[in-house]
Amino acid sequence: MHVSGPLSSRWTAYLGLLSALSAAFAPAVAVKEHDFKKCHQSGFCSRNRAFADHALTSSAWQSPYGIAPESGSFKDGQYQAVILKTIGDSGETVRLPITVSFHESGTARVTVDEEKRQKGEIELRHDSKARKERYNEAEQWVIVGGTTLDKEAKVGFEDKTQLTVKYGPSSKFEAIIKFSPFSIDFKRDGSSQIKFNGQGLLNVEHWRPKIEKPEPEKTEGESTESTEENKVEETVEEPKGEDESTWWDENFGSNTDSKPRGPESVALDISFVGYDHVFGIPSHTGPLSLKQTRGGEGNYEEPYRLYNSDVFEYILDSPMTLYGVIPFMQAHRKDSSVGVFWLNAAETWVDITKNKDSKNPLSLGTKSKTSTHTHWISESGLLDVFVLLGPTPKDLTAKYGELTGTTAMPQEFSLGYHQCRWNYVSDDDVKDVDRKMDKFKMPYDVIWLDIEYTSEKKYFTWDKHTFADPIGMGKQLDRHGRKLVTIIDPHIKNVDNYPVVEELKSKELGVKNKEGSIFEGWCWPGSSHWVDAFSPAAREWWASLFKYDTFKGTMENTFVWNDMNEPSVFNGPETTMPKDNLHYGNWEHRDVHNLNGMTFQNATYHALTSRKAGELRRPFVLTRSFFAGSQRVGAMWTGDNQAAWDHLQESIPMVLSQGITGFPFSGADVGGFFGNPEKELLTRWYQAGAFYPFFRAHAHIDSRRREPYLIGEPYTNIIGAALRLRYSLLPSWYTAFRQAHLDGTPIIKPMFYTHPSEEAGFAIDDQFFVGSTGLLVKPVTAKDKESVDIWIPDAEVYYDYFSYDVIPTSKGKTVTLSAPLEKLPLLMRGGHVFARRDIPRRSSALMRWDDYTLVVAVARDGRLAEGDLYVDDGDSFDFERGQYIHRRFVFDGAAKSLASVDAEGRAPGDANEEEGAWMKKMRAVGVDRIVVVGAQAAWAGKKTVKVLSEGRTWEAKMEYTPAAQGRAAFAVVKKVGVRIGADWTVDFA
Ligand code: NOJ
Repeated sequence: MHVSGPLSSRWTAYLGLLSALSAAFAPAVAVKEHDFKKCHQSGFCSRNRAFADHALTSSAWQSPYGIAPESGSFKDGQYQAVILKTIGDSGETVRLPITVSFHESGTARVTVDEEKRQKGEIELRHDSKARKERYNEAEQWVIVGGTTLDKEAKVGFEDKTQLTVKYGPSSKFEAIIKFSPFSIDFKRDGSSQIKFNGQGLLNVEHWRPKIEKPEPEKTEGESTESTEENKVEETVEEPKGEDESTWWDENFGSNTDSKPRGPESVALDISFVGYDHVFGIPSHTGPLSLKQTRGGEGNYEEPYRLYNSDVFEYILDSPMTLYGVIPFMQAHRKDSSVGVFWLNAAETWVDITKNKDSKNPLSLGTKSKTSTHTHWISESGLLDVFVLLGPTPKDLTAKYGELTGTTAMPQEFSLGYHQCRWNYVSDDDVKDVDRKMDKFKMPYDVIWLDIEYTSEKKYFTWDKHTFADPIGMGKQLDRHGRKLVTIIDPHIKNVDNYPVVEELKSKELGVKNKEGSIFEGWCWPGSSHWVDAFSPAAREWWASLFKYDTFKGTMENTFVWNDMNEPSVFNGPETTMPKDNLHYGNWEHRDVHNLNGMTFQNATYHALTSRKAGELRRPFVLTRSFFAGSQRVGAMWTGDNQAAWDHLQESIPMVLSQGITGFPFSGADVGGFFGNPEKELLTRWYQAGAFYPFFRAHAHIDSRRREPYLIGEPYTNIIGAALRLRYSLLPSWYTAFRQAHLDGTPIIKPMFYTHPSEEAGFAIDDQFFVGSTGLLVKPVTAKDKESVDIWIPDAEVYYDYFSYDVIPTSKGKTVTLSAPLEKLPLLMRGGHVFARRDIPRRSSALMRWDDYTLVVAVARDGRLAEGDLYVDDGDSFDFERGQYIHRRFVFDGAAKSLASVDAEGRAPGDANEEEGAWMKKMRAVGVDRIVVVGAQAAWAGKKTVKVLSEGRTWEAKMEYTPAAQGRAAFAVVKKVGVRIGADWTVDFA
């Protein structure tokens, strides 16, 4: 065993903190890759990769897993059976109960458990108190719907070798469950889409007792310590190639994982038949269309890793894990999308290979000859996979949203601009920044406080010297409707006279170590304990800490940032908790690691709903760590990036990936966290950031101050314009969030998502559409670039957003747009109507009662242009009681009219039933201007338009500007005079 007395562990802790701190203050360098495991250093990953190598190279390979046919039964949309795993040549078998569920929503779910562990018929080593079962509670955290069984699902064919089930809408989906060897082929309209265990890589490491071997004989002076080197020797004698060296305990760095349940990984190959692009499984750097991971030119050598980690100065173009995980993958080919959601919260690795061989039996009958094979490997837990058969990308995000929930309706302010740094040093500093933003006419909504606001890193306290009057500070912000976000991390300082830690300890609400006493580790405050947000009692206690009269100094405009919740433990293995730590219910940390961050954010979210009796407002909680389902409780950001052009560039595919995997409220630190951005970079970053769903500037404590007004002209002015652009488009951003909330649609959308038939766009991940506005953005992400090449996905007309120039292009062509520093490449696609608010103000709250501008981008054929606007009070849950306005705008070129109707078909008056205070006030809010870009030449000379609404008719002034030098003709109707919530028509005839 590794020597680890109290002295040595204290030293490790101290050195850990020292190295973390020194790294934190050192100039930017790349992540210490060797601090994080590669597959060959992770026992279960390397065992499963070796298993795959053996299976894929041996012609005689046959998967040792087969369903015992007599064990199977099908009832009410669910098939249950037992898979028998045959062990070696012994003929001995292990029973693995399998359930295949077919849901009304059209998703299917395959769950495989292990009978012995299920029944608790195993022995734990080291007197461990851990649970014996495979972790089976992930669904309690993640799944919120979409699992009603499809009673209409029918067995189509059954014999001794297989069973066929038809399911889904019009029975167009089919699952062919082959018994021996076990495999499932999921078909849509008769053709294979997704295949399980087609390559025979299914592997469920069953429980077995450890056979103790005699200690190797020692010669005098020889050490018995288990080190990396002598470990290899111990394994030389393992029987028949099975590498047991990491079955029973595993070393990495100075940590030994005791693994009381022995080896227990689950792995499965999932083939996407005829698909050559796969997307998803964030968060990683690298392209949106995922790379192959088994080597070869341009490919990765390592599988994509999914293990929430504080990776600190992460590297680009890498399958290395980052802070959060969403194990949802989508495969796409022309006109078809399918996906899988791997519901497992343990450390997971995913290998991806693509097979171009036309002889590949899996690709027969499909147009594309490429199939993508994926190999999913998790350390523990159930094998639990959802299958989504599309056929469109939108179907996938909608079904995934049904399963895991959709983006919460955000606080409206949170779509504005966030000003953050580590750290604003005092309340005076905050107030000064607030004033300067006004002085320089920079709108912003939120200013943030990082860890230094606390008294000695004790959360829920203030540093009395620097933040003597937090309420005074909050009140100044409130004058312009602004908010404050304070950081609260999950590590609680282990120090005397700190009531929070005293309660955590006395109520036993902390995460425990493997011995069952409270776990102690190191983070920002030094020695700390971690709140165990898996525990209901801990969550209840956590909520009590946020009450306004407990967390004194906070008020209604204070919201929260949860950082370091992977969790980050400076002296822990891979900067996190030991896997044999214990959580509520005695689940090992190993089982729940990837859920940990979400449970903490969830606890904070709920805490913010109960700060004061009778107050129910939407919380805002930013998280660094996340899992599938986190979208229901807040926003995320991509962690500690660098002030470098390539990090700006990489932020776009990262944010796009979040969007297609159900967590679209995301952004990257504008300006880059580490280092000092040159002025051009900072300016370009603001232009790009204005199109992140979550728009926050942030900077490391060591970086120079870079509030946007400090940078000097012409940059300050250009950044101000980017901020104002964001603010004017807030109504459209909010509408996009509403759509995301309703059905899981991403907020910014990559080309494959909006144009699933255009193959040339599938790998494009540096441009995107915003909601359904038709706004196409291509941020400049390289130094000294004064132009960009933008790919045009269709035959629509595209206008320059600022000049109304018609972009000379055609479908599938790339066009070069001029983009001097002051210009963000932003196009309007014909056929859309979107809403803005054009009066620049200091914050979103101050724009709340402003009239709207509607922009119509006339389609190439001059006929229909459509769009919508959703608006509610942006703060309460009253929208759930119908207190909102949702309008649909239809411009009809043939009829020469623009009409506004209720988007949900409600009759006038319906929406206003039980009209609350907000709805009443909105009666005074109208449409001020309508801008029609691509106006008809026939309108030349017209000076007025006819407006009809609420039983009245009147005329409004129109100014028409004819087309000139590549610029489209446009018309501006002024003082339209209609209410935003009413039905109306503007007649241009
Ligand atoms: C790490 C976070 O990623 C970073 O944004 C923050 O500033 C530091 N922790 C300090 O709290």
